[in-house]
Amino acid sequence: MSKCSTVISFNYDVDLLSKWRNVIMEHQDPKHSEWVLEHLDLNAMTIDQMPFKIMPDELYEDVAKAVAPINVIKDEHCCSIERLKPNTKVELHIDHGMNFTAGPLVRKTNVLFNLSDRPCNIIHEDSKLNKSFHKGEILILDVTDTHGADNTDCDEWIDLFGLNLRMTYSDTIEYFKTL
Ligand SMILES: [Fe+2]
Repeated sequence: MSKCSTVISFNYDVDLLSKWRNVIMEHQDPKHSEWVLEHLDLNAMTIDQMPFKIMPDELYEDVAKAVAPINVIKDEHCCSIERLKPNTKVELHIDHGMNFTAGPLVRKTNVLFNLSDRPCNIIHEDSKLNKSFHKGEILILDVTDTHGADNTDCDEWIDLFGLNLRMTYSDTIEYFKTL
């Protein structure tokens, strides 16, 4: 286990998650605004945060199927669509806004699925710990530790699906060993 992020191969349904991503991107439609809890349009990325418990059942069921055997609990877990903008860099940060102890979006660890054909480059304070992950891989990321993303050499959007299982980084790593 690396200190702040780990890449593992994982056989998830990219087509199903990508179809679902398109639904999220239409969230400006008033019928979606009640279940997209937060939409952020930042300098280098956009983030849409969604707790499963306020989402339509069919979307939750699609996600659960796409990421099986990960056990997605409707009343507890959250997910996100996170899109890195072309030729930009997400500067090093900690996800303070996620409130690590309480609140509907509390998140200590982000499990990221790459839905794009291009690699996603995650950066850390110690550049020796930087990671690159591709479609067919997931990145388990400790968001209580410093991280960012470097998309400066890529002229395409990188689309990521994020799963928040509400566990610490080390507990998440241990959970994935059981799958
Ligand atoms: Fe972050």
